[in-house]
Amino acid sequence: MDFILTEDQQAVKEAARDFAQHQLLPGVIDRDRDMIYPTEQVKMMGEMGFLGMMVSPEYGGGGMDTLSYVLAMEEISKIDASCSVIMSVNNSLVCWGLEKYGNEDQKQRYLSRLATGEIIGAFCLSEPEAGSDATSQRTIAEDKGDHYLVNGTKNWITNGGKSSIHLVMAQSHRELQHKGINTLIIERAFPGVSIGAKEDKMGIRASDTHSIMYSDVKVGKENRIGDDGFGFKFAMSTLDGGRIGIAAQALGIAAGAYELALKYAQERTTFGKPIMTHQAISFKLADMATEIEAARLLVYRAARMKDLKMDFGTAAAMAKLFASEVAMKATTEAVQIHGGYGYVKEYHVERLMRDAKITQIYEGTSEIQRLVISRALLKGELYQPMQPSLQKA
Ligand code: CAA
Repeated sequence: MDFILTEDQQAVKEAARDFAQHQLLPGVIDRDRDMIYPTEQVKMMGEMGFLGMMVSPEYGGGGMDTLSYVLAMEEISKIDASCSVIMSVNNSLVCWGLEKYGNEDQKQRYLSRLATGEIIGAFCLSEPEAGSDATSQRTIAEDKGDHYLVNGTKNWITNGGKSSIHLVMAQSHRELQHKGINTLIIERAFPGVSIGAKEDKMGIRASDTHSIMYSDVKVGKENRIGDDGFGFKFAMSTLDGGRIGIAAQALGIAAGAYELALKYAQERTTFGKPIMTHQAISFKLADMATEIEAARLLVYRAARMKDLKMDFGTAAAMAKLFASEVAMKATTEAVQIHGGYGYVKEYHVERLMRDAKITQIYEGTSEIQRLVISRALLKGELYQPMQPSLQKA
């Protein structure tokens, strides 16, 4: 697929690969085992421009296209998916949403610090009783004239403990259902914000996932993004882009596992020859390589559609659905190819398999992606037949 990349995109890919190999690989097993947040590594990602890749240079970002961002996500995810989810949320859910829908004052106050990694952000949509059913927000933003009073709890928030800025979806007019939801910029330092314990997760264990509680938090109206009631559309539109980031993460996890399995299969011998030459193994690798390449096409296509300002929501859903399923399958096969070695931490593939699972869950489960895609089909937005019907009249 490298033939479709420009020289600049190729350079971004190589820089990210080099960074991941030299700065993320050392210690990745320990950070995963002990749930150690990658403080130094995140600082370096900020310095290298990986935390605000698509933000305009006037706000301190890299001014790059989505495909460049996807390439960096892919390379970083091959080595450390904990770092790549921190990067993905900051880039696609926080910076992108703020730049596209925030006003100039909000961008001046927050965007450049987020884009450079001076601070990082969190996207606070999920709640104990509002995951897939995101319209059922119980967090309240009560309209008090010049400000809102926010009360509620958010769950499974990536960057929850380390972020200085939260984009929080909250209900202001319950009778209007999703049209009553607002997105507010809440600073961690505002009185009434408290952070729950770090979640002890199956995968992406070094990333920082917490619940966040808001108790009588006073938020000035200047911190509302968009018009009154725009918050749900903000969340959905921003998640469309976020799903490209997670699709790229899944692609990277799959490709990382494949690269390790291929190398192992070339070096390991059984019955007097490298296991790569046993058809039982080489066919697995053939399937992995083919499926990963197909996922790559879908992910790059969604990124390109976004860059061309086309409607990309369904393409993003397809990319995330397919890449995350490929990640789960490829990592499971990589463990199988490694045999007993694959089951121990030293060989990395068991971690990649645990990391792969979350890509089928966060930023919309595989089931939600199928819902988004099937709704597009029902609306006739996809694959209209180009030929007259073959059915007999
Ligand atoms: N862009 C803009 N607007 C959109 C949209 C989109 N992609 N999708 C829907 N909308 C609008 C609709 O047009 C509709 O607006 P109107 O009423 O004006 O017509 C409104 O939003 C409601 O849409 P639906 O009727 O489709 O709402 P729904 O309740 O039937 O379903 C859903 C929507 C697709 C299921 C949605 O709830 C969803 O995506 N759920 C999954 C939530 C999710 O992805 N959560 C991830 C949490 S964040 C996270 O994981 C981050 C992290 O930390 C890693």
